[in-house]
Amino acid sequence: MTYDIDGLVAKDKDHLWHHLTQHSNFKTSDPLIIVEGEGLRVRDVNGKEYVDALSGGVWSVNVGYGEKRIVDAVSKQIMKMCYFAGSAGTVPTIELADSIVKKMKGMSRVYLSPSGSEANEKAFKMVRQRAALKFDGKKHKILYRDRDYHGTTISALSAGGQEERKMQYGPYTPGFVKFDHCCCYRCPFDKEYGSCEIECAKTVEELILQEGADTVGGVIVEPITAGGGVLAPVPEYLPMIREICDKYDVWLIIDEVVCGLGRTGDWFGYQHYNIVPDIVTTAKGLASSYAPLAATITTEAVFNEFLSDPSDKVSYFRDISTYGGCAGAAAAGVANIAVIEDDKLVENSKTVGAYLLDQLNNKLSSHKNVGEIRGLGLFAGVELVVDRDSKEPMPEGKLVEIVGDCMKNGVIVGRTNRSLPNLNNTLTLCPALIATTADIDLIVEAVVQGVHTVLGS
Ligand SMILES: Cc1ncc(COP(=O)(O)O)c(C=O)c1O
Repeated sequence: MTYDIDGLVAKDKDHLWHHLTQHSNFKTSDPLIIVEGEGLRVRDVNGKEYVDALSGGVWSVNVGYGEKRIVDAVSKQIMKMCYFAGSAGTVPTIELADSIVKKMKGMSRVYLSPSGSEANEKAFKMVRQRAALKFDGKKHKILYRDRDYHGTTISALSAGGQEERKMQYGPYTPGFVKFDHCCCYRCPFDKEYGSCEIECAKTVEELILQEGADTVGGVIVEPITAGGGVLAPVPEYLPMIREICDKYDVWLIIDEVVCGLGRTGDWFGYQHYNIVPDIVTTAKGLASSYAPLAATITTEAVFNEFLSDPSDKVSYFRDISTYGGCAGAAAAGVANIAVIEDDKLVENSKTVGAYLLDQLNNKLSSHKNVGEIRGLGLFAGVELVVDRDSKEPMPEGKLVEIVGDCMKNGVIVGRTNRSLPNLNNTLTLCPALIATTADIDLIVEAVVQGVHTVLGS
């Protein structure tokens, strides 16, 4: 297929406002225009092919591009019945709810919406409404963690621990309170794993007591922090947070918007830690971005909080999102889960993900500017530092150069977006779950070359 390249570039520059983009840069360079994709590869408008090690740029095309089984399911559903409001069921929304909870022991209700931010907003509204129904509105506060991200809407940003995303968009929704991260490499408590007694989990209990247990209704965390630097907690951490939440009747909300649907080598990230949350939110990989689709998934106990005398006009969950009822999107979700299941992509994420970490370790761990290599499943980060002893973060500009070098060599990799000082700067990798070891070799080779070209050997 040929494209009117000049025409597309001109229209893009004149009218399309790109996300997360300083448009002044377009004065000196042309925007990236992606036109085709198949498997793990995408092609730009000039015909250049890239291995996409970022699953669509934001970790979401979990099954890869051009998956006919999803396209066929969506097209069939849209012809038959494209949409009906979420106050009714449709065949795909019902089937989707059933397929999701089959992967999540202990969870039983699925509330659909179109984005991860909205899925989190629903969770916040559930906490607040329960506070209103049961605790005179008092138990409404939600604790969130430094470095985690929960979305772009103002309340999701209010629960966001990435300050550079929040700057200039305040004032924020009241009732959100931050606690420290659980990252061992840069332990906020200056402790060592083994002798730390998991201070980062204990701090949550301290904060609940400091705020007043009667005011705190929820704790939200990513199971493995994604955009904040690919940070997995130690094994004791989430079980301890679960116990603390139980002790004070606080709902534990796990944000699986990135980690859900196989990314980490299990269906959901929290499943590595043997806990049952009260609420799980998920989005990106739920329909592998073939359609906008998200879900807020709860236990039966959470759901039961919103059951009351039917004559009571206000105590049910009074929430609606137009696109929570999109039958076409739900059909994409059902087909996507079937593809992940049939092709054993969760298992692939685990084994090929282990190979990815091995290769990164073999080829980069001795480099003077590599602080830490970490990850789980097909989800990895390489934190770069100026000096290993001081752990001074590598300036962001160097990561931009490395990402640019990989791009020049036909591999799309990512980086944490850190414009504030003293934070981790990490290269991020999360190819589609169909990745083979040969794909990983290509990706790792590009990253190694980028690091050596920009930072020296
Ligand atoms: C962990 C996490 N939660 C929530 C969101 C927000 O999802 P969305 O962009 O679909 O609103 C994101 C987006 O990157 C995310 O990484």
